[in-house]
Amino acid sequence: MATLVREAGLPLELLDVGEPHQWVDYTVLPKFAELRKRGPLHYCPESMYGPYWSIVSHQHIMEVEGRPDIFSSSWERGGITIADRAEDRADEPQLPMFIAMDRPQHTGQRRTVAPAFTPAEMVRQNADIRRRTAELLDSLPVGETFDWTDRVSIELTTGMLAILFDFPWEDRRLLTKWSDAATDFEAIEDDAKNKARWDELFEMAAYFTNLWNERAQKEPRPDLISMMIHSDATKNMTPQEYLGNLVLLIVGGNDTTRNTMSGSAMVQTLHPGGWQKMMANPELIQNGVSELIRWQTPLAHMRRTAIEDFDIAGQTIRAGEKVVMWYLSANRDESVFPNGDVFDPERPNARRHLAFGFGIHRCVGARLAELQINILLEEMQKRKMSVEIVGEPVRVYSSFVHGFRKLPVIMRRG
Ligand code: HEM
Repeated sequence: MATLVREAGLPLELLDVGEPHQWVDYTVLPKFAELRKRGPLHYCPESMYGPYWSIVSHQHIMEVEGRPDIFSSSWERGGITIADRAEDRADEPQLPMFIAMDRPQHTGQRRTVAPAFTPAEMVRQNADIRRRTAELLDSLPVGETFDWTDRVSIELTTGMLAILFDFPWEDRRLLTKWSDAATDFEAIEDDAKNKARWDELFEMAAYFTNLWNERAQKEPRPDLISMMIHSDATKNMTPQEYLGNLVLLIVGGNDTTRNTMSGSAMVQTLHPGGWQKMMANPELIQNGVSELIRWQTPLAHMRRTAIEDFDIAGQTIRAGEKVVMWYLSANRDESVFPNGDVFDPERPNARRHLAFGFGIHRCVGARLAELQINILLEEMQKRKMSVEIVGEPVRVYSSFVHGFRKLPVIMRRG
């Protein structure tokens, strides 16, 4: 077969960087380095997710993202992650969301939520986020082991989302539970767990349908639900589309910002030099935020499906083939980011990272995420706070969400 000839010479275990166990025991980074040495594009002929192309270079991911006319995000063609829906589960409900739509539908729905993320909105949210962050940091124990993921990363990102949706504050941890269910790659492999996962998502649908009905009776307000109710592009969404877009905003805001915050604890232990330099020179924090997002890259990939044959880097991607763009690898691409494994707040081009994607789907919440992380680092700097990892980090079983379930730390001040 043509595809096998294209890939002659490389063993499957090197090519199949999507296999999730290697993301838990974290042996995947050297594989990406090896693949980059051998070329920008690789075809994995078989895997638990079927055959797929991997794009591992910065330049070629930008090229693919720049051609949404050729490389589709549409859920109807397979969506935006490496995992397809299993054929024997074809009766499962679909969750159409605009990250997994092509133009023109994507354009209208994105435009509806974009006003929640303008610079003016960020100024409006700044004081609130800072106050909550400061209160949280002041409540943390000094000199005792605690889980940074739960106490800091999850708490801050969930609070931010509750404010964006104007979600009942006392129920905010439901947002975390639903976000985890939506992205649970482990559950997708097991029927019983998958059913429980869908039960969570139905619970979420019922909860948000109530909020929708309540707010539909009221005047427009600057929360995301009210914005969707009153916009022409979204007011007639089907219940599935509404649920899909909620999952998108919850996962978009939750797993990503959360895992960058967890990354901030990791770099303090793994790259104390860079971290201490940033803490001694707070003017480095702004660039340090981009560097942290590059270094962590909380979504390891996005996937596209080719609509037509396309020649790239001397190879032909055929219509219908799955293309996985590994942001984690692009953000370690030696030709753009020398010593990319190192966290360096003075890296001159940190902002060129691709962790937010590129092109028409580039992350709509990027400014909000940067604001949150900026405030976290500034408030830690003011308090002379630092943490050290004191136990084995537990990583997420996924080649999509690149992050942590648990991070035991000890905090010091002064
Ligand atoms: C460090 C934090 C974040 C990272 C790394 C991140 C990453 C991404 C990536 C990789 C994409 C897809 C880009 C592409 O296909 O080219 C995306 C899209 C998106 N993100 Fe984020 N995200 C973050 C924070 C947020 C936040 C805080 C929100 C909102 C609360 C959000 C909402 C969205 C939405 C709605 C989209 C879909 C955009 C579209 O399809 O047009 N993200 N994000």
